[in-house]
Parts: sequence; C-alpha cells; structure tokens
Amino acid sequence: MNTSQASPVLWFTGLSGSGKTTTARCVEEMLRERGVRAELLDGDELRETICRGLGFSREDRLENIRRIAYVAKLLSRNGVTVLVSAITPYREMREYVRAHVPGYTEIYVRCPLDECEKRDVKGLYAKARRGEIAAFTGISDPYEEPTDADVVIDTRSGALASNAAAIVDLVAPPLRRGGVG
Ligand code: ADX
Repeated sequence: MNTSQASPVLWFTGLSGSGKTTTARCVEEMLRERGVRAELLDGDELRETICRGLGFSREDRLENIRRIAYVAKLLSRNGVTVLVSAITPYREMREYVRAHVPGYTEIYVRCPLDECEKRDVKGLYAKARRGEIAAFTGISDPYEEPTDADVVIDTRSGALASNAAAIVDLVAPPLRRGGVG
C-alpha cells in the first residue's frame, strides 16, 4: 500500500463476472456507515461517460485505465476514499496506477474462469466463446494474474459480507454503536 496523505484508492481487479463491482458496492456502503466519504468508479459506467468510445484493444484499455486513474487521484487527494472496479487485466496497467496514484491499494478479486463463465451474468462469455466478441478477457485476451496484490479475496469460497469486511478493516476505524467516544 502506498502510504501518503492521500485517501485510499481501493482498486478492484479481476475477471469479468468475478464480483468486483458487487464487492466494491458493499464496501462503499460499509464505509459510508462509518462516516467515510467514499466514491465508486465503475468500469462499465465510466465506459458510458468519460471513457466512452474506447474499445478493448490493448491501447484502448490502457487509455481507459489512465483516465480512471486520473479521476481517482483527484478524488483521493481531496479526502475521498475511492473504489475502482475495472478488470485492469495487464500487469503494466497496474504498475502504472501504483506508480501514479498515491494511496493505491490493489485488491485482487479472485474467481476461477470456469466459475465466472458459469455465472455469465451478462451473457458475454457465451458470446465470446461463439466468437462474437473479439479480445474478451480470459477467453481471447489475457488476464495477467496479480502477484503482489495488497489484498486477495476469493468470491467462490468467500462470502460477500466477510470479503467486504476484510477490506473495510484495512481502511476504516471500527464502527461504534450507541454513543460517542
Ligand atoms: S478494462 O480491461 O479496460 O479494465 P473494463 O473493466 O473497463 O475493462 O470493462 C470491462 C467490461 O466491459 C466487462 O465487464 C464487460 O461487461 C465489458 N466488455 C465488453 N467487451 C469486453 C472484452 N472484449 N473484454 C472484456 N470485457 C468486455
């Protein structure tokens, strides 16, 4: 973890369908309960806004991540705890973000490809297998597994609440109920 004045930037990396956004939303809610200002930057949403028009070539993915990193940095230096949910499949990208974004904390959302494919929440794996989507992560484009993540969670064996709690414990004081002090 990069320790600096900046607020944490919790960067969730993992395959499509691994549970990045679900876990990040849960963490965001738990942080807000603890009075932490938190903001989720979701890859799918950003691709409709500031990253609109970018595709899935290596160059476009790198550009996507550079833009997200830039926004994350601005928020983080203004006291907002940032959660980013984006596949971030290449080691080079994650090294870029670690080097450029103070507070960067890498969370590897681990889930085996066969499980992601079984879930196939968006029906994209089936399409990719049929050859209807080119360069699909895990199928026809690489996902380079993180080797030095700050946190690894497993979404096949681990429950959502306990995975989220493990991340919250890293960055927020414990929740106190019933009074001040
Ligand atoms: S990243 O590679 O640039 O980090 P990002 O997280 O923004 O990816 O977007 C991934 C999402 O785009 C997936 O969850 C999926 O919904 C969609 N998608 C569409 N085409 C592809 C593709 N070829 N590879 C991976 N994801 C794709």
